[in-house]
Amino acid sequence: MSTAEKQSPASAQQIGAQSETVRKHKEFVFPAVANYYQEPIALVKGDGFHVWDDQGNRYLDCFGGVLTVSVGHCNPKVNAALIEQVNTISHTSTLYCNKPQSDLAEKLYQITPSKLKKSFFTNSGTEADDTAIHAAKTFTGRHEIVVLRHSYAGRSATALSTMGHSTWRPLPAQIPGIVHARAPYCYRCPLKLSYPECGLACAEDIEELIMTTTTGEIAAFMAETILGVGGFVVPPPGYFERAVEIARKHGGIFIADEVQTAWGRTGDKWWGIEHWDVEPDIITSAKGAANGFPVGMTIATEEVANAYPGLTFSTFGGNPVACATTLAVIHVIEEEDLRKNAAEVGAYLRQRLDELKDKHPVIGDVRGLGLMQGLELVKDRETKEPHPQAVLRVMEETRRRGVLIGKGGLYGNVIRTGMMLNSTRDHVDEMIGALDAGFASLN
Ligand SMILES: Cc1ncc(COP(=O)(O)O)c(C=O)c1O
Repeated sequence: MSTAEKQSPASAQQIGAQSETVRKHKEFVFPAVANYYQEPIALVKGDGFHVWDDQGNRYLDCFGGVLTVSVGHCNPKVNAALIEQVNTISHTSTLYCNKPQSDLAEKLYQITPSKLKKSFFTNSGTEADDTAIHAAKTFTGRHEIVVLRHSYAGRSATALSTMGHSTWRPLPAQIPGIVHARAPYCYRCPLKLSYPECGLACAEDIEELIMTTTTGEIAAFMAETILGVGGFVVPPPGYFERAVEIARKHGGIFIADEVQTAWGRTGDKWWGIEHWDVEPDIITSAKGAANGFPVGMTIATEEVANAYPGLTFSTFGGNPVACATTLAVIHVIEEEDLRKNAAEVGAYLRQRLDELKDKHPVIGDVRGLGLMQGLELVKDRETKEPHPQAVLRVMEETRRRGVLIGKGGLYGNVIRTGMMLNSTRDHVDEMIGALDAGFASLN
């Protein structure tokens, strides 16, 4: 058996083995680029649901590099389109039209909520969100933006100024006029209320936020439809309808950040926001769009897009390889009915996670939509004291059993799972088995 084919679970000895790649990473990469696990993993190969490290260990990948490998590593249909495009023409810049960009823009028009029509392509979620904020400001002529606490929009000056996590901020806000609304985080309600008796007080509070911390007229309300880095916090029914109503009353448009929640991830729908009865003026996305190839996109209504003044340009934006790859991912999702699969396998996953909660008191909350499901770990279900150490221990144990999962949340106490959209119940069972053993190891 070749090293690359060696099976999981990895032995402790293999995990402790020295990796030249890890050594160089530690020596030559910014220390802030933190890795998961006590002994970081250096990945060398991916195939479908699995990845291999440079010690020969195989893992079931249940995080996809943060919900980004969406239809399986090295998906043959996606890679065929990518390779064909590389061999045809791989760069044009936005100064020239290219067919994959035009075809993708048309396809996005077809699969987004009805008012959205025009796209601007970039290389990351950060740029997609930046573009959306600039577009909202130029369209409305106003400059203030309401965002959510516990949110994450990337690494630019603008995105970092919207950051809802102190842990991810290297500097104070550099861009003025960004105010942070209370997160619709029912498990830890910032207003100490319960849904539905709360009357959506967190959404109602946006009115006072605007009236007390802005000029009273805003450019936009920007929100992730599920707070991803924040720990898969799903806003309650009615939240977006009310929050967007208030934002619009004060002149703002609605930007739905779908960097994590697009492409069928939440089940049945292309976009997470379709689970609420509200239409965004702009959708941003990236991550799972091209199955790991860098791409970002800002999709706006015709009015918003047409109001973008002057000239704009992106060297790599609209790259033909990125766009052809994204189109191929969309075709795979359509052909293989993966939005439905995410709903069905996601419902099974949720049932299995709820069973784990019945068994292990450390699990305080299970939440998510479709194949975007998380577990919030606590030291005590009454006090809800966060338990980040338990997350670390469960991650080490699941890794030992050949399963990769992710983590998140302001306190680092949320296990995040983002299985491939084409996952089966068998994959779910394998991940649940590893999680179960991980929780048992805490006792
Ligand atoms: C919701 C959300 N928006 C924006 C971003 C930034 O994307 P990128 O890392 O591609 O710049 C992220 C990244 O995790 C994200 O989760």
